[in-house]
Amino acid sequence: MNGEIAVARIVTFDELGPVGLICIDNPPVNAISHSVRLKLVDVIARAQKNPGIKALLIMSDSELFSAGADITEFNRPQGEPSLQQVQTAIESSPIPVVAAMRGLALGGGLELAMACHYRLAHKDAKLGMPEITLGIIPGAGGTQRLPRLIGARAALNLILSGTPISGLEAKVKGLVDEVAEDDLRDAALRFCERLVREGRGPRPTCNRTAEDALDEAEIASSLLAHARVLKGRTTQDLVIEAIKASKLPFSQGVAIEAALAQKSLASRESLALRHVFFAERESGKLSGVSSVDAKRTQPPAIQRVAVVGAGTMGSGIAIAFADAGLEVLLNDNDPASLIRSREIVHSTYASGVRRGRITQSVADERIRRIRNAPALDEVADADLVIEAVFEDTELKKDVLSKLDSVLPPERVIATNTSTLSVTELARATAHPGRVLGLHFFVPAHASRLLEIARTDHTSPESLATAFRVAKVLKKVAVVSRDAFGFIGNRMMLDGYFREAEQLLLEGATPAQVDTALENFGFAMGPQRVSDLGGNDVGTKARVQLFKRESRPDPYFVIADRLTEMGRLGQKTGRGFYRYENGSREAVPDPEVNNLIEKLASDRGIRRREINDQEIVERCILSLINVGAMVLEEGIAARAANIDVVWTSGYGFPRYLGGPMFYADTLGLSQVWQRIRHYQEKLGYYWRPATLIERLASASSGFEQWDRTSASR
Ligand code: 3HC
Ligand code: NAI
Repeated sequence: MNGEIAVARIVTFDELGPVGLICIDNPPVNAISHSVRLKLVDVIARAQKNPGIKALLIMSDSELFSAGADITEFNRPQGEPSLQQVQTAIESSPIPVVAAMRGLALGGGLELAMACHYRLAHKDAKLGMPEITLGIIPGAGGTQRLPRLIGARAALNLILSGTPISGLEAKVKGLVDEVAEDDLRDAALRFCERLVREGRGPRPTCNRTAEDALDEAEIASSLLAHARVLKGRTTQDLVIEAIKASKLPFSQGVAIEAALAQKSLASRESLALRHVFFAERESGKLSGVSSVDAKRTQPPAIQRVAVVGAGTMGSGIAIAFADAGLEVLLNDNDPASLIRSREIVHSTYASGVRRGRITQSVADERIRRIRNAPALDEVADADLVIEAVFEDTELKKDVLSKLDSVLPPERVIATNTSTLSVTELARATAHPGRVLGLHFFVPAHASRLLEIARTDHTSPESLATAFRVAKVLKKVAVVSRDAFGFIGNRMMLDGYFREAEQLLLEGATPAQVDTALENFGFAMGPQRVSDLGGNDVGTKARVQLFKRESRPDPYFVIADRLTEMGRLGQKTGRGFYRYENGSREAVPDPEVNNLIEKLASDRGIRRREINDQEIVERCILSLINVGAMVLEEGIAARAANIDVVWTSGYGFPRYLGGPMFYADTLGLSQVWQRIRHYQEKLGYYWRPATLIERLASASSGFEQWDRTSASR
């Protein structure tokens, strides 16, 4: 190796015979930040002046090629050179430029590679255009070059899905010229040497034409294929318009793309989605821990996990850890439960194999990772224990106290309680610092959210372990202070679901409430959710609630009555709706309407016509209002954490940014006035959170509140 050009580490250059090797090195994800663009242009220009260099190779020595444009630059003017200017420098290079991708090549990273004259990828690389998940369209020629490389139809599908494809698939589609089975660098250098030997020169993508054009039928079928993720969204319309422009000469196409990209970047949808992107990353960090504590909080690796209680949740949690490659010990004091759990584990993996998600050998390996441990002291050498026995304070205390005596004191003991006081459960141990709540959702192996419930005694080390668990399981972590319902269920019960029930008593029907909120953007309306999870589950939670705090009548009188009647939801074929012959289709049931009318009349409520707008406004405002209370009470540390909980665990539309972000977009003074309006109309329970009043009168918002929270 000779002739190293002295550039800062962010982009390095090496002369390897006739090949100039440019390596991007911008941790953590090789984002194409301004400094990277500057160096790339500089190094390319200098290399072109070197007569000994006959080909350029762009790659990275790190685990990934690039995660794309630097998203942190989106909110400010982007310095020159732009990514497009870098691409022009590459595409117009008189010597061929080759990109070699390993790990991830996403968004602007892949767009950079598409501007190169030739492309290689490692067979396991992941190449994709995830811009749509951020509410933007590919804005660095992606909508113009991708159709020229793989066809307009395939480009539309790749961009609308936002999901990457493998290096092998990319080769089949014509996105890359060659796939490396093993050593990418070696394969890429040999490829470049071959180009030089064979005298193959530059091959600008912009000079090609797309082989096909989009017709309306194909557009409709692509939209249908991605309908679930695109529900309520608008970015796809801009993507389609941009791809259609790829039929024009390149310079016209990129100009149209640039205008559409700018429009998408400024959209509310994009602001909301970018907010959630950063909120999810922020919520998974240990805030409020002093630097001294932070040094102590490097958690030990977790290799073996024990789960105590092999019911619905315990089995799901075991599967989640086995999926992540960990060893799991499953304990239950009822041998029949262990047998049932085994069946759950087997049938879950069999379904994964049937659906083509995993191979049989992967399934077998994961099943082998879960071992039964019928005696509690067998869990003693686990790195972490999660308790998931029945929701009963005395039982859980007994289990925790036994675990406390068998486990070394530094190991974390987590409880999966959803309603009990973690603080009280921790009192049953001699080491309350190692106790916290890990609130998994159903199904535990597939749900994205993990609420971490900390007590006043939970140690920073235990919290750090909980964050590591979330990372290992690829779940989004949010810390909640120990309080009834933590963040999500508290807001659901006291806010959103409660208002939905109230609306039923006042005159709406379950179908009307559900449809209005589904049209707002929720994945599923509240009554359908209740029927899916089981009305008895909510009733049991409320029984626990009344042991801790009380709520005046009416408070879920309909759902609790349905539970008493055995109308538990889908599992009994009857709930807020009827479900015929095991079908999941919710059919409105006049019997339920009669019940609601009776419960309303018992309370002297005069029913009336209620329109969809009122349904949505009241449900969302009460969600926001209780969210603000959760903030003032210190249960959630940041408004953005609440947004993460609701977008990742409760079906709130991500493209609206979560309830607190949405409140900001409405304007808090408007929010406050409408809550006051309902307080005057409906009375006591519409008490506005003082935080909303305070922020509204200061013309501030939750985002601002979060920003200043670091200094509080
Ligand atoms: N720009 C700036 N920062 C980024 C980034 C990006 N494109 N992608 C990730 N980061 C940051 C994260 O914010 C995080 O920062 P932090 O440590 O300060 O919180 C850090 O990199 C690590 O990210 P993760 O915690 O998410 O790490 P993971 O290993 O779990 O995931 C990833 C890595 C899969 C790359 C994930 O970060 C990701 O999906 N990133 C976004 C990818 C994307 O959407 N790319 C397209 C960007 S838009 C674009 O390119 C526009 C173009 O068309 C012009
Ligand atoms: P489940 O009733 O399906 O399973 C509980 C299991 O605990 C049973 O297999 C039982 O045999 C076992 N068990 C009881 N006493 C035990 C002991 N002393 N030692 C070992 N095992 C014992 O209950 P589920 O639904 O799995 O709930 C478990 C926990 O998860 C509860 O705290 C619940 O509140 C919580 N949770 C439940 C959710 C749900 O929707 N089901 C959601 C989130 C949390």
